[in-house]
Amino acid sequence: MRVYRAEDYKAMSRRAASIIAAQVMQKPNCVLGLATGSTPVGAYEQLVEWYKQGDLSFKEVSSVNLDEYLGLTGDHPQSYRYFMQKNLFDHVDIDVAKTNVPSGMAEDAEAESKRYEKVMADLGGIDLQLLGMGHNGHIGFNEPASDFPIATHVVDLAESTIQANARFFDSMDEVPRQAMTMGIGSIRKAKKVLVVVSGEGKADIVYRAFCGPVTPEVPASILQLHPDVTIVGDRAALAKLEEAGVPVCD
Ligand code: F6R
Repeated sequence: MRVYRAEDYKAMSRRAASIIAAQVMQKPNCVLGLATGSTPVGAYEQLVEWYKQGDLSFKEVSSVNLDEYLGLTGDHPQSYRYFMQKNLFDHVDIDVAKTNVPSGMAEDAEAESKRYEKVMADLGGIDLQLLGMGHNGHIGFNEPASDFPIATHVVDLAESTIQANARFFDSMDEVPRQAMTMGIGSIRKAKKVLVVVSGEGKADIVYRAFCGPVTPEVPASILQLHPDVTIVGDRAALAKLEEAGVPVCD
C-alpha cells in the first residue's frame, strides 16, 4: 500500500488524476473502474483539462462504474450515469459505447447484476479501479455488513448513506433506498486500486480501514489484502494514519 499526501483537495485531485493519466498513457485501451461522489470530481476536472490541452486521449479506454441507484434513469440528474456524463464523458473523447454503468432501470435486477459481471469479465478485468470511501467505510455501495458480498448485487442503502445523499434531492421521499453495486470480489479483482480521500471527516474511517482489522463491518478494510493499492489523500484525511506511524510520501 502506498500513501500519497497532498496539501489540499486541489493537489489531491491533481495527484489522483496523474495516476489515472499514467495508466491511460501506458495502456491506451485500458479498462478504468470509475466512481462518483464528491471526492473524485476534482480529479475528473483535471483529466478534462489535460484532454483539452491535447495531452491525454480516452479514445480507446473502456470504463465500468462501481454503482447506480435503482429507479433512476440515466438522464436523471442524480443518476450516476448522468454524473459521469457531466463530470467526464461529455468533455473527453471517450467512446460512450465503451462506458458501462449498471442500469438502474433493469426490470430483472439479478439478470442485470450477472450481465454487469460478464461485461467486466469480457473486458478482461479492470486495470485501475478508482474508489472513494464512505464515512462508514463503504466502497461502491457495499455497506457495513456481516460478510463481504462478492459479485455485483442489489443493496438496501444504510440509513446514514440515505441521509448523506439527501442533500442531492429535493425531498427525502425522492432519495433512492436501493442501488446496484459491484461487489467486494469485483473490486478486489481490479489489478490496481486508487483510493481518494479528502477532509478531516474521513480521517477516522481512513485509519480504521487501513490500520484496523479486516472486517466486513468496515468494507474498505478488505483493501488491506489487495496487492496494489494507492491512497491519495489531503493532509486532513490522512492525519490519523500518519499519527499511527503509517509512512506517507509527499
Ligand atoms: C460512488 C461510490 C461511493 C462514494 C462514497 C464517498 O460511486 O462508490 O462509495 O465513493 O460514498 O463519497 P464522497 O466522495 O462524496 O465522500
